[in-house]
Amino acid sequence: MRPKNLCFFTFTLFSLLILRVDSTQPPFSCDSSNPSTQAFPFCKTTLPISQRARDLVSRLTLDEKISQLVNSASPIPRLGIPGYEWWSEALHGVANAGPGIHFNGTIKGATSFPQVILTAASFDAYQWYRIGQAIGKEARALYNAGQATGMTFWAPNINIFRDPRWGRGQETPGEDPLVTGKYAASYVRGLQGDSFEGGKIEGHLQASACCKHFTAYDLDNWKGTNRFVFDARVTMQDLADTYQPPFKSCVEEGRASGIMCAYNRVNGVPSCADSNLLSKTARAQWGFRGYITSDCDAVLIIHDNQGYAKSPEDVVADVLKAGMDVNCGSYLQKHTKVAVEKKKLTESDIDRALHNLFSVRMRLGLFDGNPERQLFGNIGPNQVCSQEHQILALEAARNGIVLLKNSAKLLPLSKSKTKSLAVIGPNANSGQMLLGNYAGPSCRFVTPLQVLQSYIKLTVYHPGCDTVQCSSALIDRAVDVAKGADNVVLMMGLDQTQEREELDRRDLVLPGRQQELIITVAKAAKNPVVLVLLSGGPVDISFAKYDKNIGSILWAGYPGEAGAIALAEIMFGEHNPGGRLPMTWYPQEFVKVPMTDMRMRPETSSGYPGRTYRFYKGQSVFEFGYGLSYSKYSYELTTASRNKVLYLNQSSTMHIINNFDSVRSTLVSELGKEFCEQNKFPIRIGVKNHGEMAGKHPVLLFARQTKHGNGRPRKQLIGFQSVILSAGERAEIEFEVSPCEHLSRANEDGLMVVEEGTHVLVVEGDEYPISVVV
Ligand SMILES: *[C@@H]1O[C@H](CO)[C@@H](O)[C@H](O)[C@H]1NC(C)=O
Ligand SMILES: *[C@@H]1O[C@H](CO)[C@@H](O)[C@H](O)[C@H]1NC(C)=O
Repeated sequence: MRPKNLCFFTFTLFSLLILRVDSTQPPFSCDSSNPSTQAFPFCKTTLPISQRARDLVSRLTLDEKISQLVNSASPIPRLGIPGYEWWSEALHGVANAGPGIHFNGTIKGATSFPQVILTAASFDAYQWYRIGQAIGKEARALYNAGQATGMTFWAPNINIFRDPRWGRGQETPGEDPLVTGKYAASYVRGLQGDSFEGGKIEGHLQASACCKHFTAYDLDNWKGTNRFVFDARVTMQDLADTYQPPFKSCVEEGRASGIMCAYNRVNGVPSCADSNLLSKTARAQWGFRGYITSDCDAVLIIHDNQGYAKSPEDVVADVLKAGMDVNCGSYLQKHTKVAVEKKKLTESDIDRALHNLFSVRMRLGLFDGNPERQLFGNIGPNQVCSQEHQILALEAARNGIVLLKNSAKLLPLSKSKTKSLAVIGPNANSGQMLLGNYAGPSCRFVTPLQVLQSYIKLTVYHPGCDTVQCSSALIDRAVDVAKGADNVVLMMGLDQTQEREELDRRDLVLPGRQQELIITVAKAAKNPVVLVLLSGGPVDISFAKYDKNIGSILWAGYPGEAGAIALAEIMFGEHNPGGRLPMTWYPQEFVKVPMTDMRMRPETSSGYPGRTYRFYKGQSVFEFGYGLSYSKYSYELTTASRNKVLYLNQSSTMHIINNFDSVRSTLVSELGKEFCEQNKFPIRIGVKNHGEMAGKHPVLLFARQTKHGNGRPRKQLIGFQSVILSAGERAEIEFEVSPCEHLSRANEDGLMVVEEGTHVLVVEGDEYPISVVV
């Protein structure tokens, strides 16, 4: 017996050793083969997570605690706890933009979905959910394969796309608070492993999502003002009905397990040192349960760039007392010990943060022993770049691309009648630029030129410009190429040299000589040309809108790894475009508005035009929600009782507020949850496809008040839904209207009110008035 046992023992020890040196083993705590750590209460999966986290924190020395307050958290070998990397990125696919993910093992790339601004253009929350879900699965597969040292992803970016020049507008779902909030909740539920409706997972997380950048962060670097020093002056009113709603939705509906506080200050206070924001609003008011990270080096800049705190120790005390938990950077590693010694903060302030941090790691299953035996342990490398995910990336691109112009039905082109094609432009022959920023290595690269060549054999290419910046152009050569072809496709727009993190645009027109190239080529071509714009932010292309030589315009954002295929499918009529713009396209003259002015509402006295479709008073090149299709759709509101009257005057004790324009209003908070719930009503809308092609069509429902001005939005999106209709088909869809949620707006104190008077529900031209009595 004995030798056999010994042999067994040696064998186990040997295999354990192999396990330890095997770099493809995911890092986890509470290894069941290690009896000393297995006995700790923090390893007992039967105990509540809060109790386990408390037990773990109580075992740490002060130095060990401090080592956990930064993004690269050190291992604690005596407790069998490996290191942890808090910083990973997954904006539109698992990326290696953060240090937590490595594509150097079996898994070499991940599905690269369209950049978020294009995904948003589908107005399809279920699609956003499925993308989040796919990304979460791929992330877990990377962890299981030993290629992730962290499972906390710093996405989604849900700041409002307030100004068209913002270099990171591409990362966001656009300018509307409802769309952005829905995107946030859908993406987070998907990534974290919840159901689409939410509420399926209690504690466990497939991966952890993080809503950023909290809050009012939407300027990177504009005319000498950068995000590190920018103090965003935001009114309570704008905060309440523009800047905060996406974060509220991300927390309350999405149940996000992470929040990132932003670099900028808001009304003088750095976001990461604002206890009102982090503790009172997010945790107490919205019920946030999770961890709060700083943006990278956002703690350091509070001292070094903003001069907000006197000493480094004061900064440490400010952020930890405000409710921040982990510092991306090393500032807390360096200065926390002295801060404790100087009694600027207590060890219990640190414990509070650690409790949140370890709770999230436990919810990820990283303290449950070998993850192969856990909930998400069976997600293997074959889930990454799976056919299903690659098709989803293609669908997202198809459903997002927006048809902006289609004169004389130039599109779709006929594959059989187009004998030759000229493709012109610097954006036509790159696979990488289709991805946008925060992209990892994708499953595949295919350029628009390659795909078009596979449709039309006789396809000739000329870049036209030296680069996207187009400071030098070979216009004559491009004209010669164009003249020789039946049809011409110009692939123009922007790329990351024009708009990105740390780079806002100065102008809204196309860079360099692009416009001149387009006009000249279009004029010389045999037939009207097709113009394809790749860009995150909007471009003033008024010239092309009115140029009869430019027959069709498509906006494709940065459409991701399958974007080139989606574009060709749309051009040749294999897919009917249905995307709609998630942001206003402003004219170039908008650049006279200082980007630093955060006000959403217009100001008549100074000529300040306001921002986004909800408030902007000027002309736009294309409006929010604009988008054509190869089909025509008609709409009708079919709800039985027109001229509905809503009585919100149920209680005589309620405050009625009179504005200075003497409109009576009532506070939503005083109406009460139950009353708000009872007064919801459905409206039905019939939608018919009059075209010859099937199509997926998003229907947008807006509300507006007949009374204008005084801080009221011009109109406000209150719902959106997609219908898929074959040629000639009609269907009915239903929206639930909640007066408290949908007919309210913020007053100057930042409180939501419903005003007396006529509110109008609007679906593309069709209107449905409701009288509200308070
Ligand atoms: C992958 O890269 C990471 C970070 O550079 C490194 O720690 C790890 O050992 C690498 N793995 C392999 C298999 O090369
Ligand atoms: C609400 O207003 C309507 C119309 O003015 C009135 O008939 C009704 O009595 C009011 N209800 C209450 C509870 O005050």
